[in-house]
Amino acid sequence: MSRSFDVIGSKEKAIAIVEISDEDEGREKEIAKALLQKQKNVKSVLKKESSRKGEYRIRKYKLIAGEKNTEVLHKEHGYTLKLDPQKVYFSVREGTERQRIAKQVKAGEFVMVMFSGIGVYAISIAKKQPDVEKIIAVEINHQAVDYMKYNIRVNKMSHKVVPVLGDVRTACNKWYGKCDRIVMPLPLGAESFLDIAVKCAKPGATIHFYSWGGKDSLYDAAEKAIGESLKKVNREYKITGRRIVLPYAPGRYKVCVEFKIL
Ligand SMILES: C[S@@+](CC[C@H](N)C(=O)[O-])C[C@H]1O[C@@H](n2cnc3c(N)ncnc32)[C@H](O)[C@@H]1O
Repeated sequence: MSRSFDVIGSKEKAIAIVEISDEDEGREKEIAKALLQKQKNVKSVLKKESSRKGEYRIRKYKLIAGEKNTEVLHKEHGYTLKLDPQKVYFSVREGTERQRIAKQVKAGEFVMVMFSGIGVYAISIAKKQPDVEKIIAVEINHQAVDYMKYNIRVNKMSHKVVPVLGDVRTACNKWYGKCDRIVMPLPLGAESFLDIAVKCAKPGATIHFYSWGGKDSLYDAAEKAIGESLKKVNREYKITGRRIVLPYAPGRYKVCVEFKIL
């Protein structure tokens, strides 16, 4: 019996996202109702109906109990994020990873967050390091950018975070050679944007690259992609960190490999 669920939102209104195992398939309404009763702030229960798909990395969900409107204000680490998981990517499980990145940022840094979604990495960095110079946040899903603009405003970060609607491939050239740090939170396919990240980097810049790894080869795919891309653009680099971000599926992990451009 699977009862794995995430809660996104606040004390006033939250939604639960559940995975229902095959054996519980006929009991989904009963499970959802029990959840609504137990957690009073949960107003809607969504069941995962697919893996993340497409360019926007969104899942299909089915509303199995509660209100139709699944837009919430999620609170974490002292900031607020408005979002609807049916329209944009958001993972409540990556809060610790966001803090790991934010803690590394030093005063005066110029930061690029590629694939920025509703602005959650940019906002967590600006919250933790208010003396950051600027954070450019690039995202292709216009609904995510609308939420990002709201989130930047409501957290009073308009002087620090610049939202950009566009494709990382074509939207970043204004910041070539200007960035001290580049965050690349797109585990599926970020390797095809490594050349752009390197172009954005100042000498000495750090790049946080996300990828997938198997149990016995956690960082192999990430390091191979980094090695091949940096060779193509003829740049030297040094790996400065490796870690598991989260388990994703049996024997499969989301990982981060960090490296410096020399
Ligand atoms: C895995 S999600 C991460 C979102 C956000 N950083 C977060 O952690 O919540 C990847 C995001 O990249 C966006 N994306 C995908 N391809 C893109 C591209 N070529 N240019 C800009 N954004 C892109 C998707 O729409 C999605 O919001």
